[in-house]
Amino acid sequence: MSLAILERCHHEHVPVAVYPRSLEAARAVAGEIAALIRARQAEKRGVVLGLATGSTPISLYAELVRLHREEKLSFANVTTFNLDEYHPLPPEHAQSYRRFMRRHLFDHVDLDPARCHLPSGAVGKAEVDAHCAAYEAMIAAAGGIDFQILGIGRTGHIGFNEPGSARHSLTRLVTLDPLTRRDAAGDFGGDAATPRHALTMGVRSILNARRVVLLAWGQHKADIVRAALEGEVSPRVTASFLQEHPHALYVLDAAAAGSLTRYRTPWLVGPLAEQGLAWDERMTRRAILWLSQLRQKAILKLTDDDYNEAGLQDLLRAHGSAYEANLIGFYQMQHTITGWPGGRDPKRTKPGDAPVRPLRAPSATVFPKRVLVLSPHPDDDVISMGGTLCRLVDQGHEVHIAYEVSGAGAVSDDALWHLLAFVRDSGLVAADRSGRLDALCAGLGGHTTLPASPELTQWKALIRRHEAVAAARVCGVGENRLHFLDLPFYNAEPRSRRYGPEDVSLMGALLAQLQPHLVYAAGDLDDPHGTHRLCLHVLRDALAHAQQAKAQWLAEAELWLYRGAWAEWPLDEIDLAVPLSPQEVLRRRRAIFRHETQKDQALFLGEDRREFWQRTEDRSRRLAQAYNALGLAEYEAIEAFKGYAPGDFLRSAAF
Ligand code: F6R
Repeated sequence: MSLAILERCHHEHVPVAVYPRSLEAARAVAGEIAALIRARQAEKRGVVLGLATGSTPISLYAELVRLHREEKLSFANVTTFNLDEYHPLPPEHAQSYRRFMRRHLFDHVDLDPARCHLPSGAVGKAEVDAHCAAYEAMIAAAGGIDFQILGIGRTGHIGFNEPGSARHSLTRLVTLDPLTRRDAAGDFGGDAATPRHALTMGVRSILNARRVVLLAWGQHKADIVRAALEGEVSPRVTASFLQEHPHALYVLDAAAAGSLTRYRTPWLVGPLAEQGLAWDERMTRRAILWLSQLRQKAILKLTDDDYNEAGLQDLLRAHGSAYEANLIGFYQMQHTITGWPGGRDPKRTKPGDAPVRPLRAPSATVFPKRVLVLSPHPDDDVISMGGTLCRLVDQGHEVHIAYEVSGAGAVSDDALWHLLAFVRDSGLVAADRSGRLDALCAGLGGHTTLPASPELTQWKALIRRHEAVAAARVCGVGENRLHFLDLPFYNAEPRSRRYGPEDVSLMGALLAQLQPHLVYAAGDLDDPHGTHRLCLHVLRDALAHAQQAKAQWLAEAELWLYRGAWAEWPLDEIDLAVPLSPQEVLRRRRAIFRHETQKDQALFLGEDRREFWQRTEDRSRRLAQAYNALGLAEYEAIEAFKGYAPGDFLRSAAF
């Protein structure tokens, strides 16, 4: 077993290997697979691999391809069986899993195409059962699977074994869960075009493999990973069945491991010192917030008994008494709150005014500041931090907003028709263009969806651009301070979910041009198609280049990460909390309303039918209530941020 960091905690029911980053984890798993292939080659025997698709194994396949090219790893003795395929879907479809496998692995190594098997999305309904039985028979005839790779869906599925799949299930036709479909909708260009069914190997087919390794990267997988590893074995979370396999392993990056008991609430696992941890300020605060929520008591009302009964004797001993410990937690939370997110104007500050918290960098006293708000899609800025944005502008800072991708994918044909028909009927369009406009309106007004084309995408991007301009106007940011980066990774066809040097250099150029004191960016890595994550990685690489180039501005900059429509920061991770008044909440709502194409027609709202403005208001009100329940002041709403010095951000394993 070549995996390095193998740890076991009694809360987890399957062995787990945690790596700081997914790349290192993928390399370790590729190493184990390569060792198996080579060992079998030495014995002149074949190997049967069970393969998965999705974003998770891409880095694993890239490493296997590298091993083939650079270290002569041959796949000549390898047979593969993929877990699943959408149904119905022709194999040549851009989003078919066969195409995926060719793109990431099959076309780049010496695998014999005749030995690469996937269920076929092309078989008719009448033949499905026979096809699935034949697939099982082929696996058996190949001698069974030696090494099965798995990802995990946010429903806890392995393969497409959605909640409710039985332990004894075999390869079959299944109906996809709405959450799974939502996660796939971006690749298929919307909900309507996303398949409802798939063929998948069953739970039993997977557990029959001799070795099963489940990979998970990223914070958006953390909660389901915890449920699968620490919860009971149940068809509600089919990945939990791995608890019954004698040679299963979970391989996680630090972010995907983040909700496990040993990381989230390590005091429940054992004394901190034994885990190489200490009751520093962060850990103390985390335990106190946990205790306050557990006992449903304000922080300052927690007693020695509360600490003792919840197993926090260790913490009491470290700080002397509940009174002392409470104060530490209370002040830390209080110090996150500020109405001046960019600091105060020194000329207007009187002795006795509240200190500028929690800004820390050397630029804390600079006023006014240059602020760069990075918005992955054109509406993330106002959805996630619209109130703070307005405050920064009102308080006199130079606020720029950069929209990272066009967001064209989330505009329906209907919304485009509506606007083009308005232009057509306005009579303002030049005569030589009106024929094209008529044709477009006629096509979009029909009852069938038009195939995506660069022209339609261009108009859809323009609509979102205008919506962003209108929303920024509500916040008081003029067009001269808006930057539309249109990062190329978003436009790749088929969606590759990878970024490249061009994306990084566009971001780098903007940073170098603005030299911002404060950068706000989306740290919400839960968005359905991973665009936020890619945007954050683009920023990370651009900051790393600036650091290598010893850019002066970087040493003085602070980075603040926000979360938005899909998740909020846990209380213990918040560094900056900006309270909003009822009027500010309404102004933010008006700004969000400017994104008209995202209202009720939005393609990706999924099962949660609340619109974005409702999610935003619910989220920020709930956060204000949570602060109040801790015994802090009562506000209408709060927007929250996690702060980093750029150097710390670059060192952090969380992203
Ligand atoms: C893919 C598959 C699925 C994925 C899971 C995670 O063949 O069977 O179970 O592994 O949906 O998908 P990603 O990796 O895209 O998060």
